Amino acid sequence: MHVTIFGTGYVGLVSGTCLAEVGHDVVCVDIDQRKIDGLEAGVIPIYEPGLEPMVRANHAAGRLKFTTDAAAAIAASEVVFIAVGTPPDEDGSADLQYVLAVARTIGRHLQAPAIVVDKSTVPVGTADKVRDAIAAELAARGVDIAFDVVSNPEFLKEGAAVEDCMRPDRIVLGTSSPASIERLRRLYAPFNRNHDRIVAMDVRSAELTKYAANAMLATKISFMNEIAGIAEKVGADIEQVRKGIGSDPRIGWHFIYPGAGYGGSCFPKDVQALARTAVQHGHEPTLLDAVESVNDRQKRHLFELAVRHYGGAAALRGKTIALWGLAFKPNTDDMREASSRRLVQQLWDAGARVRAYDPEAREEARRIFGDRDDLVLCDSAGDALQGADALVVITEWKQFRSPDFAQIRARLGDGVLFDGRNLYEPADVEAAGIAYWGIGRGRSIRPE
Ligand code: UDX
Repeated sequence: MHVTIFGTGYVGLVSGTCLAEVGHDVVCVDIDQRKIDGLEAGVIPIYEPGLEPMVRANHAAGRLKFTTDAAAAIAASEVVFIAVGTPPDEDGSADLQYVLAVARTIGRHLQAPAIVVDKSTVPVGTADKVRDAIAAELAARGVDIAFDVVSNPEFLKEGAAVEDCMRPDRIVLGTSSPASIERLRRLYAPFNRNHDRIVAMDVRSAELTKYAANAMLATKISFMNEIAGIAEKVGADIEQVRKGIGSDPRIGWHFIYPGAGYGGSCFPKDVQALARTAVQHGHEPTLLDAVESVNDRQKRHLFELAVRHYGGAAALRGKTIALWGLAFKPNTDDMREASSRRLVQQLWDAGARVRAYDPEAREEARRIFGDRDDLVLCDSAGDALQGADALVVITEWKQFRSPDFAQIRARLGDGVLFDGRNLYEPADVEAAGIAYWGIGRGRSIRPE
């Protein structure tokens, strides 16, 4: 099938590449000429495992094209995806200007009946606005072309985006048109073998499904962080508690890891946007507000542990803190809403210096922080420890999982480790003569 995708960000680029991989003819459109030129030359703007060779192979095979020419792409397509960004507005609601600009562009250039698919995470009611925007442009042209707007939210995770896209656990299609479902069923057939993953529903339910999924996952994390806070106070170990509850299939093992708070481009933005939608429709989002405020507190927690360890923020002045990890999670260079950013700022405000190492996010960190005297972006985990007083682990990259604690001790001035992801056994760390602070690991482990 002939497909156009608007937006070459995470969702657009990964979805377009996967659709090309299974044999569809895909044109990715972006207004950013530099990005398009780069993609045509095989330069992938994001780090995502497996994506680069797939983009290159499909591009070379002629199934995946990149252009800024929206008119030609729309004219040749039977399915048009909208996968542009929906950044938060000042009040936290999703800013739809890019989505609606694409809708108008579609209306201006549509030549034959087509299905327009919303893949961007958009508030409930957006499909109607997209439909109105397209219809208004068609009316202005004086033409009558049939089209349907379908909500088809994307559930891919950064770092596993290609895998998630090639092997989706569900394909949500929101529309009241059986014909659209049938057409999209054909489009997705290569991803839908063995058992049917298509969940068809009305358009508003599909739009809400995406937010509900992300808000539920964010809630699980904030819940565990809340319990971790209690564990710290009552002298319990959250890691034992996690094991004690995860085996209940109604709770499950996933997304119950306490840590330095959730970040990324989805959870913080989507929880806020859903809360805004609730308020706009007269529902008080008590739980969503709490999820967000727990996460906000959690992002400040590592700094508070450091303050406790040193007996006050003033003691951090002049100290050098090694940071392992900058990205909001492993296998990505993405630092949007990363907990590391809050911590680094707090350390600087307290007069400390930072030596940071992240396997992928170094360039991103340079772009975000710029050149500063109080920041060294290091080439290796060992390098970050040089001359450092303390080590903070904030992203759970695999390579940080089993370090040589004796070597760490030899390099660390104050011999203290703050484990923002509970990667280590406190006893192993302490056996090497390093003081250990984790998340929710009890007063019995580090008395106040
Ligand atoms: C998320 C959803 O998982 C995905 O389905 C949706 O399409 C987009 O949003 P992503 O933002 O890529 O994906 O990251 P995810 O792996 O879900 O992690 C989000 C954050 O939560 C990370 O900062 C991670 O460190 C944190 N997290 C995750 C925890 O703190 N504890 C956990 O148990 C799980």
